[in-house]
Amino acid sequence: MTASQAPTVRVLDDAAAAVPLLLAELHRVVGAGTRPVVSFATGGTYSGFLRALGRQLQSGELPATAFVATHLDEYEGFAPERRGGMVHELCSLCPPFAAMLARDAFVPVPNAGDAAQLVAHEQRLQRAGGVALQFLGIGRNGHIAFNEPGTAFELGCHTTELAATTREDARARFAPDEPPRRAITSGIATILAARRLVLCAFGANKAAAVRAMLHGPIAPTCPASALRRHGDVFILLDRAAAAELERSAPGSA
Ligand code: F6R
Repeated sequence: MTASQAPTVRVLDDAAAAVPLLLAELHRVVGAGTRPVVSFATGGTYSGFLRALGRQLQSGELPATAFVATHLDEYEGFAPERRGGMVHELCSLCPPFAAMLARDAFVPVPNAGDAAQLVAHEQRLQRAGGVALQFLGIGRNGHIAFNEPGTAFELGCHTTELAATTREDARARFAPDEPPRRAITSGIATILAARRLVLCAFGANKAAAVRAMLHGPIAPTCPASALRRHGDVFILLDRAAAAELERSAPGSA
C-alpha cells in the first residue's frame, strides 16, 4: 500500500485538549455510517477520552446503539472480568461498554491465541463492515497495539511476546504480581485495514518514538512507522511528545 497523503500532525497544549477532538472524530464517523465499527485503544493516553465517552453514552448525547465497539489487544488468559485486562479497563473507564458487551455490540479481542478463534475474530469485524475508525497509542519503543519492534507488517491478529519496556510500563498496573508476558494483538495489517487512524502520544517519554514514527525508516524497527503507508492518519501530540520533531515536518501544525 502506498500512502496518498502524509499523516496530519497536530500539537496541542496538553492531553486534555485532545478529548473534544477525539469525541468529534467519533461523532463524525457515527454520523456518517450505519453502525460503524470503532476500535479503541487502552492505556493512560486514552483514560480521559474514555471517561468523557462514558458520560456521553450515559446521557444519550451519543447513542450506544449507534456503533459497534472493539479494541486492539488483550493479555493472554485475561477474561473480560479479570482486573488488569483490556476489556476490564475499557468497561471500568467507560461503563456503558459493559452493557454493549452483554448485547454483543462490543466485540472483545480473544484472550487465547487459538488460530481459528483469531481468524473468526477478524472475520466478525469484517462482517460488521470493517473498522471505520481506529484509535491508537504508541509505546516508547514505537509499538502500536502490541506489535513490538521486529514484527512483520503483514501479520493480522496474532499472539505475541511483550517487550521488556512494555512489561515495565505495565508493572504498576499488576503489582504486586508480575506483568503478563504474552498478549493477543491486532497486527499491523489489521490496523492498516481500518479506514481512518487516529493516534495520540503524550509526554516526553514518547518523543523519540514519535520522531521515529514520522521521520525514521518505514520498517519493523519502529512498528508505528507503518502508519505512513496509510493515507488517512491523524496524529495528536502534546508539546513534550512533539519535542523531537523537525519544525518543518510535513503535515505538522
Ligand atoms: C493498548 C495498546 C498500546 C498502548 C501503548 C501506549 O491497547 O495498544 O499500544 O496504546 O502502549 O500506552 P499508554 O497510553 O499507557 O502510554
